[in-house]
Amino acid sequence: MSFLTFSGITKRFPGALALQDVSFGIERGSCHALIGENGAGKSTLGRILAGVHQADAGEILLEGQPIRPLSPLAARQLGIAMVHQELAFCPNLSVAENLCLGDLPQGAAGWVNRAELRRRAEAMLATIGLRLEVDRPVGSLSIGQEQLLQIAAAVGTGARIIIMDEPTSSLSGGETRELFRLIRELKERGITLVYVSHRLEELFALCDRITVLRDGRHVATEAVAATTPSRVVQQMIGRELLVQTPRHLALTPGPELLRVENLSSPGQFSGVNFSLRAGEIVGLAGLVGAGRSEVAQALLGLDRRATGRVLAKERDIPLGSIDAALAAGVGLVPEDRKRQGLVLSLNCRENTSLASLPRLSRAGWLRRGEERVMARREADRLRVKAPSLETTVASLSGGNQQKIALAKWLARDCDILIVDEPTRGIDVGAKAEIYRLLDELAGAGKAILVISSELPELIGLCRRILVMREGRLAGELPRADFSEAALLRLMAGVEAA
Ligand SMILES: Nc1ncnc2c1ncn2[C@@H]1O[C@H](COP(=O)(O)OP(=O)(O)OP(=O)(O)O)[C@@H](O)[C@H]1O
Ligand SMILES: [Mg+2]
Repeated sequence: MSFLTFSGITKRFPGALALQDVSFGIERGSCHALIGENGAGKSTLGRILAGVHQADAGEILLEGQPIRPLSPLAARQLGIAMVHQELAFCPNLSVAENLCLGDLPQGAAGWVNRAELRRRAEAMLATIGLRLEVDRPVGSLSIGQEQLLQIAAAVGTGARIIIMDEPTSSLSGGETRELFRLIRELKERGITLVYVSHRLEELFALCDRITVLRDGRHVATEAVAATTPSRVVQQMIGRELLVQTPRHLALTPGPELLRVENLSSPGQFSGVNFSLRAGEIVGLAGLVGAGRSEVAQALLGLDRRATGRVLAKERDIPLGSIDAALAAGVGLVPEDRKRQGLVLSLNCRENTSLASLPRLSRAGWLRRGEERVMARREADRLRVKAPSLETTVASLSGGNQQKIALAKWLARDCDILIVDEPTRGIDVGAKAEIYRLLDELAGAGKAILVISSELPELIGLCRRILVMREGRLAGELPRADFSEAALLRLMAGVEAA
């Protein structure tokens, strides 16, 4: 009998059977990976364990005893905590206040005892060796710091099981290393981790066992030492993954579609020059904070303080105007899709057509039939898994939300497409699909700029890679010179020996 056992877990949502008779065990003090395609049921399983959702059938056994956490609080009392990606704290309260919110130390006359508050918060941070100013507002922390804070809160309140759902998807390299160090330490203390990620290398470096889900069903649970990445991919997607060399590389790029001259924005980036030609996929690499996303936003007219020149097909685009950028054929799939890319309360069809409304309308009327055809085509191209096009985006799995954000811009048929971290949170099978799509678009004569923190992705896909460092273009590598080492040197500003 395992420390934690799922037995016959089934969960139904309106229109979706998220989990179907899932059974497997997790050992105490292990890091247990959950992997599967977008919509396979990983987050749902984590949320059931954490008391966010309740299973329709089946049971969870903790040390042989059935448990049924009816709320996140009930789960916490059983020693089970989940680390969320979205804000889990009040951004305007301090680190200390957030950590002690459930049990604020009382002082004289009912006031909060500040000294005691600070002492307790520091003690909690110390349990995981995290050094942070406890008086800082949580809103001023990076995503990585906030995640570590959630872990401190979990460990500090006695969690024995911690669920992490794609914890590294928005972390910098340094933050990721810090998280991994911490996970290894927690394991040594006998804490059990349930770790959800699409990054296979990560799972193989960190986890002891891997459970694969497909379409809500349990496929396999195996020791990491006894399996291989390609075997896991096969189990996930039910077929071999085909990786082909991008075809656009064999073509000769056409005329220049975008030219950026001396683009600057105070405090963000300065003196950025580059151009994109028809049929090219160009990468933009850099460390988190190098200014890549800021440049992308300026190109879409979202930065009113931007100066310099941007030309589309040799015509100036006035800076700071989204309308002008859109009219010139520029499209951007932003990095932060939840906040900038999607309207969560609208359905898949409406989100997909959002950037194409003028083209779909006649005399002010939206042509519903065409809208539906277009939304269906894009959803099929990207293999979106949703009960129907009328499903609200909020109820899709994380990865399928990403696909809808991408579909919105693909539908618009832009000549110059900028994609910011296009495969974040996307499963390996769908990733290959997105690479194929971008390749196809380039083949059709579009110019594509791909911002990515995954170097293998850029190396596989691009004709050349621009590298930004501290708000400036630090260099450019042609395909013949691609290597992770060369890119990292440019990104970090270390000269080649
Ligand atoms: N609150 C909800 N309401 C309706 N359907 C939901 C809800 N949450 C999840 N689903 C559906 O349940 C299925 C499993 O979703 P889940 O979020 O568990 O997938 P996942 O494996 O975490 O995927 P991803 O890798 O994309 O994050 C999907 O079909 C999803 O649309
Ligand atoms: Mg998920």
